[in-house]
Amino acid sequence: MKIGIPLETAEGERRVAATPDTVEKLKKMGFEVIVSAGAGARASYSDLRYEDAGAQIADHATVWSSADLLLKVAPPSLEEARALKEGAVFMGLLWPAENEELIEVFRQRGVSAIAMDCVPRISRAQKLDARSSMSNIDGYRAVIEAAYHFGSFFSGQFTAAGKVNPAKVLVVGAGVAGLAAIGAARGLGAQVMAFDVRAAAREQVESMGAEFLEVKVEESGEGEGGYAKEMSERFTEAQMELFKSLASSVDVVITTALIPGREAPKLWRMEAVEEMKAGSVIIDLAAERGGNCDATVKGELATTENGVKVIGYTDMSSRMAPTASQLYGMNFVHYLKDIKSGEGEIDLDLKDVVVRSSIVTHNQELMFPPPPLSELDPSSVSKEMKPAADTAVAKETPAAAQPATAVVAEASQAETSSSRESSNEMNLKQIIIIAATVLWVFLLMRADAGEASASTKAFLNHLTVFALSCFIGWQVVWNVSHALHTPLMSVTNAISGIILVGGMLQATGAELNTASIFGGLAVLLAMINVVGGFAVTQRMLAMFRK
Ligand code: NAI
Repeated sequence: MKIGIPLETAEGERRVAATPDTVEKLKKMGFEVIVSAGAGARASYSDLRYEDAGAQIADHATVWSSADLLLKVAPPSLEEARALKEGAVFMGLLWPAENEELIEVFRQRGVSAIAMDCVPRISRAQKLDARSSMSNIDGYRAVIEAAYHFGSFFSGQFTAAGKVNPAKVLVVGAGVAGLAAIGAARGLGAQVMAFDVRAAAREQVESMGAEFLEVKVEESGEGEGGYAKEMSERFTEAQMELFKSLASSVDVVITTALIPGREAPKLWRMEAVEEMKAGSVIIDLAAERGGNCDATVKGELATTENGVKVIGYTDMSSRMAPTASQLYGMNFVHYLKDIKSGEGEIDLDLKDVVVRSSIVTHNQELMFPPPPLSELDPSSVSKEMKPAADTAVAKETPAAAQPATAVVAEASQAETSSSRESSNEMNLKQIIIIAATVLWVFLLMRADAGEASASTKAFLNHLTVFALSCFIGWQVVWNVSHALHTPLMSVTNAISGIILVGGMLQATGAELNTASIFGGLAVLLAMINVVGGFAVTQRMLAMFRK
């Protein structure tokens, strides 16, 4: 299959759908790659580097007309879409609810169009979630823009000439972009506060060292598929009061709040803007969808009468084009790895929830909003999943939100039902563990009562130590959070040292018996752990070396 990487023609678009690094990965997967001349120039990737990575450089028209699979960033123009081969595959950001005419062109030409913005928000699809990759960059870049336009340090400073207080940053909406903004602002040394309507956001905000703000009104902001829902008037009023009371003390406000399928909620209203000090900065990452701030002008930097700078740029990730292109290109690589059917070939399996949620046209049919799984292949839907396929949610929800509701609800339900199965498994495991423990205690008691020989007693003692070690080892490994796995490895290396000594003591001696065999085996396994531990630690350290 020939993959085409065209030059992005949308105004101000600097990103490109593949970098020399991702081209190399696509080539390794057996694809041919053809790139428009100059496609990567605005992201600092020269044609020469693409050629070195194994791509063929061609003119723009040839890329569109010869590609079997076209990877793109921004939605194409209608002319570009018409230039695509009939029956080809298109992958890119499409925003299908807003680009009906374009989707219709794809449908008529029998193009299988995959909207990267419709990839469902489920764990399995994280690595190919382009919206998350881009939101992460948006959040980071928002802080960089704020720091550039704010006339002071972000971190507090004591200098010989006097003291400067740290900047106070408020992040409204702690989703992917909001959390990235918190991380970047904290990294620059600012004092950060954040607000979100989803209770789940609290832990994430606090784990990043920011203060989580709340209002006294209790209301869950949790909507379908992990997204936020529109809040009641009472809650919104309380929220506005809170923001107004904070406005005079914050230096930077970064708003990211969105609700699927709706205009962005107006959260930083004019009365809050008016309270802010001159020189304060508002970055409105929701500007594309109408903005969270009353004073936002889409795509522009505006200054209010009281001297507050309001930034409504909608191209934050494009402002970091090299990294944005690399991450976006990797989203494609992961997607293609998932649907690869052979060397340089793909298979669009509509039973796969990721394909089904993101494909918008296929075989001259409109697939948006995505049909429930039951409609495609009733046999593949388990009894537990059927209610989730109910289209009631889809009918009530605006089109733009649908990929995030009905199908994702179905996908999450599938994930939930598999977790329910695993919890049943857990119950069975617990019963077995309790039964084994009772049997064991009984045997120990009998042995202690003098009814067993000395060797049986010794065996039971060893077995007790062995079982307890297994239990503690299991609990330690599985209950330690991922972030602590590296220090955990150091501890297990130390334990492996003790095992090595014990194993060597058992393995010595001329006689080959069960103890020496197990001793030898213990030495071998402990060595694997020690060597593996060192290798992984080396790799981790290499990541921090410049
Ligand atoms: P988003 O871009 O739709 O919204 C941004 C944030 O604004 C959200 O945290 C939302 O709760 C918040 N918000 C909405 N209305 C608000 C209001 N009135 N006041 C304050 N905050 C408000 O969110 P994003 O970043 O797309 O994430 C949505 C959800 O998807 C999150 O739960 C996130 O954890 C989840 N997610 C899951 C992924 C996966 O499992 N593959 C990947 C990325 C996100």
